[in-house]
Amino acid sequence: MRGRLLVGGLVASFAVVMTLGAISRVHADAGAVDYTKITPVDLVNQTPKGKLSNPYKDTQADIVEQGHKLFLSYGCNGCHGGGGGGGMCPALINDVWVYGGDDDTIFRLVTLGSDQLQAKGYMRKGRENVVGPMPAFGAIIKSSDDLWKIFAFVRSKYDGDPAYKFGDPPPPPEPSN
Ligand code: HEC
Repeated sequence: MRGRLLVGGLVASFAVVMTLGAISRVHADAGAVDYTKITPVDLVNQTPKGKLSNPYKDTQADIVEQGHKLFLSYGCNGCHGGGGGGGMCPALINDVWVYGGDDDTIFRLVTLGSDQLQAKGYMRKGRENVVGPMPAFGAIIKSSDDLWKIFAFVRSKYDGDPAYKFGDPPPPPEPSN
């Protein structure tokens, strides 16, 4: 009797340990990407479409400040203006998005450039006043972390309709009769 209880107890605690192990492994995998160590090109290649999302918020003043410096140091301002308001090239801070305004799409656009993005089936909606190719920066920007910080800065400058900050808002729910 005593023996069986003991065995039962061992089996039960073994199961608990295994379950906890599995849970922590799943968590470790989900959080495993160290953006400072992965290039934008590798991140794009290893992440399924639609799954890239900025770990930073544009309310984090220190990150936005770092992103601003990176934006200038990588020369984005040469085409898009120092505050992202446009110049020779489209504004980054209005509610017109060439391919979509979500994190995933803009990360892929800047990494791959317009030509490669289009080769992957993305269509230019062509509503910006300037139409031209965005060069591929994936091999130039050192880490995905740098690019996420740049986008935190760009988002912080957004001055369009709030509903379109991350691209087209989801359609209203179907009327239920
Ligand atoms: C040589 C000029 C040039 C440089 C440098 C450049 N871009 Fe662009 N960018 C463009 C053009 C042109 C487009 C429009 C692309 C299209 O229509 O296919 C664009 C589009 C974009 C868009 C989408 C804008 C929208 O309204 O949908 C983002 C975001 C962007 N660029 C970010 C960046 C960032 C970040 C950098 C610096 C790492 C950068 N660009 C550097 C020319 C440039």
